[in-house]
Amino acid sequence: MIVHRSVESWVAVKRGLYQEPLGFVPTMGNLHAGHTSLISKARKECDVVLLSIFVNPTQFDDPYDLAQYPRTLQTDLELAKENGVDHVLLPETDQIYSDGYTYQVHERKLSQSLCGLSRPGHFDGVLSVVMKLLQIAQSSVDPTKQRAYFGEKDLQQLVLIRNMARAFFLPWTIVSCPTVRESDGLAMSSRNSRLTDDQRSLAPLLYRTLRESGDALTALTLLTRVGFRVDYVEDTDLDGRRRRLAAAFLGNIRLIDNVTLDQEPAGPSL
Ligand code: PAF
Repeated sequence: MIVHRSVESWVAVKRGLYQEPLGFVPTMGNLHAGHTSLISKARKECDVVLLSIFVNPTQFDDPYDLAQYPRTLQTDLELAKENGVDHVLLPETDQIYSDGYTYQVHERKLSQSLCGLSRPGHFDGVLSVVMKLLQIAQSSVDPTKQRAYFGEKDLQQLVLIRNMARAFFLPWTIVSCPTVRESDGLAMSSRNSRLTDDQRSLAPLLYRTLRESGDALTALTLLTRVGFRVDYVEDTDLDGRRRRLAAAFLGNIRLIDNVTLDQEPAGPSL
């Protein structure tokens, strides 16, 4: 596994990889089983696997959240190696934002709803950095040979990235990967490690309530009753499927999750 601490170092290598099937897994580090499932899928489907680790400051609307974001580089590199990553890109903030973030990707519709409503600028930061990372990672012009992997837990992000790739004719296939869950149903997330024991025992109720409530309002009411501060619960069509998405706080930890209503019909109200 080769670790690239600058964009130039990766670019020098990628020149020799032209047209080799490339799998790209962009992350902010603090890797968990959700990330390793993306890496495994990339490993199965592609000849070369590139992982990026970059804690992107522009997608944090709350400076406290950015400061608290767990940075676990050594463990991340070990996990990457164990899971068969070939190249790790660790770019510096100054390099990614050499323009001072004066150039941005802004989506005017979907990004303004759901998580975008309470996190102004969040998706501008995500789309801008993913655009930059896809340009850096790109080693050929054939979308069948370049695949980028994103998890369905961040469904709104995934749909926005897929639509951006289409809108800007990016030669990438955007691959969606199912949410990986703890045995009690909690979606894997870097934020889970910041939950207190009490919050951790409540947290799986988010998924369970989304699945089992008859409608979004019932889910919101039940989550509030058990102690979540709910940002939103909304049933909507995303990605051609009927979905229920939610964001809710336990203390100052914001958790998100979603379920497919088409495949998992809502059961009776809890
Ligand atoms: O999902 C994430 O980890 C981040 O939003 C991403 C896609 C790596 C962009 O910083």
